[in-house]
Amino acid sequence: MICMHFTEKRKRMKAIRIHEFGNADVLKLEDIPVPTPAADEVLIKVYATSVNPIDWKMRNGGYKGKFTVHLPLTPGWDVSGVIEQAGEDVKNLRKGDEVYSRPDPTRDGTYAEYVVVKAAQVALKPKSIPHDQAAAVPLAGLTAWQGLFQHGQLQPGQKVLIHGGSGGVGTFAIQFAKWKGAYVIATASGKNLDFVKSLGADKAIDYKDEKFEDIIKHIDLVFDTQGGDTQKRSLEVLKPGGRLITTLMPQYKAEAEAKSIHMEGYMAQSDPKDLEQIAKLVDDGKIKPYISHTFMLAEAKDAQEMGEHGHAKGKIVIKVV
Ligand SMILES: NC(=O)c1ccc[n+]([C@@H]2O[C@H](COP(=O)([O-])OP(=O)(O)OC[C@H]3O[C@@H](n4cnc5c(N)ncnc54)[C@H](OP(=O)(O)O)[C@@H]3O)[C@@H](O)[C@H]2O)c1
Repeated sequence: MICMHFTEKRKRMKAIRIHEFGNADVLKLEDIPVPTPAADEVLIKVYATSVNPIDWKMRNGGYKGKFTVHLPLTPGWDVSGVIEQAGEDVKNLRKGDEVYSRPDPTRDGTYAEYVVVKAAQVALKPKSIPHDQAAAVPLAGLTAWQGLFQHGQLQPGQKVLIHGGSGGVGTFAIQFAKWKGAYVIATASGKNLDFVKSLGADKAIDYKDEKFEDIIKHIDLVFDTQGGDTQKRSLEVLKPGGRLITTLMPQYKAEAEAKSIHMEGYMAQSDPKDLEQIAKLVDDGKIKPYISHTFMLAEAKDAQEMGEHGHAKGKIVIKVV
């Protein structure tokens, strides 16, 4: 029996891996063993994944010292797929379930035919959209959802300014804030102003040609996806008691405090309850992922280079099946 275990051939899969930090040339398509789930994990057959800035920040070594990053590493921290195998302690999910998730970014990711994920980070995918659309949702959707509602405490009738409204996170943030009943202002470049309005923004500001701080004031919440100067200038539009929630480093905490503004950065968490709520909104037709480009797994380099350019409209998806 023991002998059989060692001679039994482990199933193999295609995966993109990096063996060193660097530009997109370090992404290699390889043939590696399919991972095995632990008792509290599931093995997901990946149908699609999507590209997020963390993918290239991790690839180029930008997260060294912030996360435990091992090499070789498979990038990609979005998945929509089907459960192939559930660990023995997993009670709520079973083989054949169609699921989506944002797996743990300290572990091998989803630019692969299979990925192992903690069952506690997985939810059933929205039923009304195919896997290649569902894969665009978890990381960006959770970031927008938790930023606006958990950290931002956005309430109906409040005014929210969303920076980067045409990006991966921003396209979800506009739709969530509108669904909540907020007055939504979004920044984007001139070519995307109509686009962010079509997502639900009441007002769109061209960040290249206009200074948002000259146009709006008395804002309840700024949702910052840009950092730096944008984050600093955002303090000028908030009312005292307002909140500035950033997906990046909160760089101006002392200045915020002096103006009685709450400034906070956060790392989105893969909370299955949030994923379930988002799936319901998608299935109810309230929220739609916007996908500008779709690549195949072998084209991961092109997909990352497009995202890294910093002007992607909505999400970039990588189809695996
Ligand atoms: N903390 C977390 O858990 C978390 C999670 C997800 C993402 N993030 C971070 O959040 C940031 C945004 O992520 P993402 O996925 O939305 O990125 P993305 O899809 O690459 O967003 C790019 C968007 O930013 C817009 N943009 C560029 N410069 C701008 C400016 N000065 N003002 C307003 N908009 C500007 C671009 O608009 P135009 O094309 O119109 O120029 C583009 O649509 C990234 O830095 C990412 O690392 C953090």
